[in-house]
Amino acid sequence: MSGARLTPPGGALADFSGDGFLRKAGRQLVVTVHGAMRVIRLYPPENEAVTKALDDLAAAAGAILAREQELEFRASAEFIFVNATRLRLDLDNYAAFSQILSTLRACGLGSFRAIAAPTARDWLVFLSQLMAQAKAGEELPVADWLERLAGAGVTVFDLGPPQEVPQDEDFQQRAKEAAKRTYAQSVAVTKEVINSVRMGQATSIKKIKRVVQSIVDQILNEETSLLGLTTIRDYDEYTFTHSVNVCIFSVALGRRLGLSKLQLYDLGLAALFHDIGKSRVPLAVLNKAEGLTDDDWRWLAAHPWLGVLALFHMRGQQELPYRAMIVAFEHHMKTDLTGYPRPVRPRQQSIFSRIVAVADGFDAATSRRAYQTVPLSPAAVLAGMRDNPRRGFDPVIVKGFINLLGVFPVGTLVVLDTFELAIVHASSPRPEALSRPIVRVVSDARGNLLYPGHLVDLAETTSTGAYRRTIIKTDNPERYGINIGDYFV
Ligand SMILES: [Fe+2]
Ligand SMILES: [Fe+2]
Repeated sequence: MSGARLTPPGGALADFSGDGFLRKAGRQLVVTVHGAMRVIRLYPPENEAVTKALDDLAAAAGAILAREQELEFRASAEFIFVNATRLRLDLDNYAAFSQILSTLRACGLGSFRAIAAPTARDWLVFLSQLMAQAKAGEELPVADWLERLAGAGVTVFDLGPPQEVPQDEDFQQRAKEAAKRTYAQSVAVTKEVINSVRMGQATSIKKIKRVVQSIVDQILNEETSLLGLTTIRDYDEYTFTHSVNVCIFSVALGRRLGLSKLQLYDLGLAALFHDIGKSRVPLAVLNKAEGLTDDDWRWLAAHPWLGVLALFHMRGQQELPYRAMIVAFEHHMKTDLTGYPRPVRPRQQSIFSRIVAVADGFDAATSRRAYQTVPLSPAAVLAGMRDNPRRGFDPVIVKGFINLLGVFPVGTLVVLDTFELAIVHASSPRPEALSRPIVRVVSDARGNLLYPGHLVDLAETTSTGAYRRTIIKTDNPERYGINIGDYFV
């Protein structure tokens, strides 16, 4: 059947004809597979809910087969491809995606292809077997799988093994380019808005909303690249990159905490504007390297409520960004309300304020600013936020943040037991390997610097099962003349 296909797979034609359809139909397939798995687990096969779910699934698969003449479902790292089109992951289908991916992974499978249209019974047998195997927690070679299914009278599926993780370099490269564009544009627009607030000019929230939307979309699509760019931390552009970084961290964190896309837009806007009050603080105070007077501190401590005023003045045709005002007001209050401003009446920091406080605390402490020439290592900052209750961060949110960044966050310089130096590139795709991120080796064992270096996965083991490389400690990149941001552009 597939031999009669005229469209080159993945070629230009596929982009125009099949892509939009496949995105939608592929999602439907994911949702119906997930739905079927759920009812199969709950009810006996003859139950009406099971029959209905399997019929829906057969229809969803049938629609793809009818139009495409083929149906291939492939899992790769954290992505799902249907007929080579990558499905977009968003918060609505997050549970379905992760459940299907983890079931396939636990069974030792990476893909399945329907040779002909599978019936409801074919799906029932296939999915039941998958779930039983995943529950047993034992991978099975593909040949055994095929034999087992054939034994149950199901021959309509062809199966494939899991793929190695970094298979799609092209995709990664494109994601990286897109992230760089989003980041640069966000910094530019933020600069424009902050400067016009400083000059007392009218500003458009619309523009900044679009920036936030592109950050949210990018993070839902592929978060590693954008998180990597937060390490650039340009000293001269601190005010603007800080706002953008806090927005990126907050959105990525909010996503982990299960916020909806609309909530992420609101959160992102609030995060981007959290320090907007600083544009009403004299530049002479903001740029002081040392010797801040009491008056200077009073100016700095006023930025939360100055922010509320600045946002209030931004109203116009648009709705007032109430949530952003609350975050601007509360982000330094601390969970125990010992921060500033001191509230008159008892209150609770809102969830958005607590998220932004964590993102803000992390970015500020790892950046080098006028009054902080040596930044702390990201790992040390995280540990402090977690272990010192007086810092006033919400422990659950800090935990989520550590899960997001890994124990060694992206951009940390680490020394390995091979005496190589490396920079943390991405947290491990395996949640159980928080201390074994993917790193870029930037010097050999004798201290010769390498550029751009090469990526290695610290979870990699030798044939005897020992780890090839392990982090001994973190270190200050300046000691070695390394500029971390250089390795992320
Ligand atoms: Fe602030
Ligand atoms: Fe801040």
